[in-house]
Amino acid sequence: MRPVPGRPDGRVVPERSRVVVLVSGGGSNLAALLAAHVEPGYGARVVGVVSDRPDAGGLAVARDAGVATAVVAPGDFADRPAWDAALAQAVGVFEPAWVVSAGFMRILGQAFLDRFGGRVLNTHPALLPAFPGAHGVRDALAHGVKVTGCTVHVVDAGVDTGPIVAQRAVEVLDGDDEAALHERIKSVERALLVDVVGRAARGGLTLDGRHVRLA
Ligand code: GRF
Repeated sequence: MRPVPGRPDGRVVPERSRVVVLVSGGGSNLAALLAAHVEPGYGARVVGVVSDRPDAGGLAVARDAGVATAVVAPGDFADRPAWDAALAQAVGVFEPAWVVSAGFMRILGQAFLDRFGGRVLNTHPALLPAFPGAHGVRDALAHGVKVTGCTVHVVDAGVDTGPIVAQRAVEVLDGDDEAALHERIKSVERALLVDVVGRAARGGLTLDGRHVRLA
């Protein structure tokens, strides 16, 4: 057990429950995690939020919840490896057991994965391995699929290629546009992410090649 960095109240959080969330956008997945982490017995505690964008709405969500934040913007670094190393450093300050990429729109590089590999989870708004990348919802719609969904996976060096932890299906409705479909996916995605992060923190996960088992 150790105090949460940056918290004047010196609140103590069990080490294996410590979670850092990476965000680039509005942070509704982060907000769902923050709503869960105050529940007794949830097991995960968000101890820091890190963004690549100073204007990310998720930073305000974190601050409103009294969670420490940091910004590591690529434009402030000479190249991608330097940014990636700085990101790893900023996240490392919080000594997380788990890193959750929740709407973080950057690829994590080698330095980051060397330090946190196997402990980084990402949520993606499609049923991987279909429709990886930044436009999973748009690409699924354009392809004409009737069912899509969301995936939580362990991050590896590829783009949305890591071992799959959990998935949920969402039906595509006639007349769906990207925004409507994404909103329906996100309501399922938030619940899935909250469930997976809590279970990972409480009981860990076992990786056997591409096969993941949550306790
Ligand atoms: C989520 O659907 C996530 O999977 C995708 O971007 C969205 C982020 O939403 N990469 P929010 O910022 O958590 O509201």
